[in-house]
Amino acid sequence: MGLVAANVKTIEKAARIIRDGGLVGMPTETVYGLAADATDGNAIARIFEAKGRPSFNPLICHFTSIADIQSHAHMDDRARALAQAFWPGPLTMILNRRSTSSIHDLVTAGLPTLAVRIPNHATARDLITAAGCPLAAPSANISGTLSPTSPAHVAASLGDKVDMILAAGTASVGLESTVIDLSTDTAAILRPGAITAEDIAAILGTEIPYATTSSDIKAPGMLLKHYAPDTPVRLNAIDVNPTEALLAFGSTTFMGVKGGGHAKDLPDTQIRNLSENGDLFEAAANLFAMLRDLDRPEHSAIAVMNIPNTSLGIAINDRLQRAASS
Ligand code: TXA
Ligand code: MG
Repeated sequence: MGLVAANVKTIEKAARIIRDGGLVGMPTETVYGLAADATDGNAIARIFEAKGRPSFNPLICHFTSIADIQSHAHMDDRARALAQAFWPGPLTMILNRRSTSSIHDLVTAGLPTLAVRIPNHATARDLITAAGCPLAAPSANISGTLSPTSPAHVAASLGDKVDMILAAGTASVGLESTVIDLSTDTAAILRPGAITAEDIAAILGTEIPYATTSSDIKAPGMLLKHYAPDTPVRLNAIDVNPTEALLAFGSTTFMGVKGGGHAKDLPDTQIRNLSENGDLFEAAANLFAMLRDLDRPEHSAIAVMNIPNTSLGIAINDRLQRAASS
């Protein structure tokens, strides 16, 4: 399994692996993806197999241009306006696919729709261009576990199931893209992310609701338990048990350890702070890596401090609720 620094030569090698039907760990601004040729059914089947993912869960296709996307899916005025505003970037649109699209049915899980985005990461775009095909890429982790925000996470989760990992540092956003369904007249946000409902409303001039996870059969990937560490997660903690790890947000001045002591004196292995300044962007970028750090068998649970449920906090709380549900 090759973990290699991304450069012109290694990107060309990775593109060849993809053209030959292989799998590449691809950096993006959101999380690392497990990329394959979206038109090659055998390669897509390998993605599902490597992730241990239920095959009814459709994948996002990554492109470098709006023109390429339009040859596979229909973009209406809403889609064009959002593309103009947020691409390249962490927004995935669910569009109606064209009947002439060469994207394999396994990618869309047989749905008449296609999830598309243009990533804001030069290595990802260079890889798509070099491969010469759209890249289907779910997050590069075993299904149901934490999404990878560093190349080391990909290697730890997938091992030699991935043919090459292009390493390009830590993902700057740290949360999976916002998913918006534009396949019908009533748009809905299927997955909150760094592009918030407010950001989208500002472009479309109308409020877009969040789809509720339970009622939305259109997003089979929105299984409630999803971004899950092995250690139980306890939300809205106002204090911490001595056996628990603490995932803090903002000041811990008032956080005590039950039975005596102060949270700030917990050993380094037992505490992480998503953002000491209470910055939601910093918290999002740190979330998955810090959950991983605290996910140790000696911890009875990971106690998580309250995170405000506004703007990017909605996406962070969405991932935390999934991590906490059993
Ligand atoms: O940030 C991201 O989006 C990352 C990077 C690698 O781009 N990718 C990612 O992919 O998170 P994945 O496969 O882990 O999540 C894709 C989500 C799933 O919840 C899936 O169910 C949903 O998008 N999805 C994909 N195609 C869909 C479709 N046609 N209709 C409804 N939901 C769809
Ligand atoms: Mg995923």
